[in-house]
Amino acid sequence: LNFQPTKFVTSAADIRQLPDDTGVEIAFAGRSNAGKSSALNTLTRQRGLARTSKTPGRTQLINVFEVEAGRRLIDLPGYGYAKVPLPVKEKWQLALSEYLQQRESLRGLVILMDIRHPYRDVDQDLLHWATDCEIPVLVLLTKADKLKPGPRKSTLLKAREAAMVFGGDITVEMFSSLTKIGLEETEQKISEWLTQ
Ligand code: GTP
Ligand code: MG
Repeated sequence: LNFQPTKFVTSAADIRQLPDDTGVEIAFAGRSNAGKSSALNTLTRQRGLARTSKTPGRTQLINVFEVEAGRRLIDLPGYGYAKVPLPVKEKWQLALSEYLQQRESLRGLVILMDIRHPYRDVDQDLLHWATDCEIPVLVLLTKADKLKPGPRKSTLLKAREAAMVFGGDITVEMFSSLTKIGLEETEQKISEWLTQ
């Protein structure tokens, strides 16, 4: 699958504003600042497709991108950012959980975690939920460029072991939007999900 022609479709505040629930889509989820929007840009080779920011909580809406007709990528709002006002936070969490539970076209979930602190509480909740619903998961340990090769490798191996505990269809890879480490594996997995 060629990701380069991916286009922005719409931003939705809740699932009722999303495009029709037909075709297939893959969602990117993770804590605020984990690197979801950056990963989307790296995958599609487009610098400014998804808005990125140093300030956590940049992506507050469900952003929809179309790779080609009927094949979509979804940038979900990040979770776990403490400084966002509670009503705003509750609204995102609701949109997020509704999306994950109700979206028929969801074929796979990419869960992004900063390689320096993987498997935080909400990450684990999401992994439990996905495996319960039998949704395949790709865990990306992001910002892999922040660790030296040795610690990077050992973190990956530990993270793969930790994933087995959840018992579902979970693949764990490293990822860096800076060095493109893990890009090939990520492309392969998402292509597979979007074309099966
Ligand atoms: P929210 O939309 O707030 O949930 O954040 P996000 O998960 O979309 O994160 P985003 O892609 O906006 O990246 C957050 C910050 O991390 C930015 O300052 C990025 O430049 C930085 N960043 C993202 N990916 C990488 C990476 O692979 N390596 C390094 N070193 N920094 C990265
Ligand atoms: Mg974002």
